[in-house]
Amino acid sequence: MNCSIVYSSRTGNTARLAGTLKDLLAQDHTCLYFGAPDARALQADLLFVGFWTDRGSCDQLLRDFLQTVHGKTVALFGTAGFGSDPAYFEQILGNVAACLPADNRLLPGFLCQGRMPQAVRERYEHQLEQDANDSRAKRMIENFDTALSHPSETDLQALGSWLGSLPLV
Ligand SMILES: Cc1cc2nc3c(=O)[nH]c(=O)nc-3n(C[C@H](O)[C@H](O)[C@H](O)COP(=O)(O)O)c2cc1C
Repeated sequence: MNCSIVYSSRTGNTARLAGTLKDLLAQDHTCLYFGAPDARALQADLLFVGFWTDRGSCDQLLRDFLQTVHGKTVALFGTAGFGSDPAYFEQILGNVAACLPADNRLLPGFLCQGRMPQAVRERYEHQLEQDANDSRAKRMIENFDTALSHPSETDLQALGSWLGSLPLV
């Protein structure tokens, strides 16, 4: 089956997943388009659509693209800064899926944690300086530090397992 890999990535995490998918798919599928949201991606019947989590959903660029997709098989993949809660991941995937018109066939999605810019940690450090008992800021710094190693090799392996589990025919 021919496919396209469309993704939005600000700092490279989602791009890393997209590149891994491209390599994995190369054996069995012809990739007609690889890159940023673009109508050229719609030539393919199967779309892998990658996003970075922006306030609980995908960014506007990808939202606009998803709304133009009709009659395709779509698999969503992405990265999120906050990675400790599977229910949160499901919620994000649901929010992004809601941007897709109903006449598509939506496959199960994949999400893993992705590191965040240093400025995010500095913001929480500043909050902690103001109030040393700020437990939310402490949790956010812990999460930031956990996210630093993601996407990890384990995440990329999980991406491969997810790909292998998809009913692509
Ligand atoms: C403006 C902004 C909003 C974000 N909102 C969320 C969010 O709501 N939930 C979350 O888990 N991560 C959030 N993040 C973290 C990014 O989704 C995460 O670092 C992601 O891996 C970035 O992917 P990229 O490197 O492909 O751009 C946000 C990051 C930015 C810059």
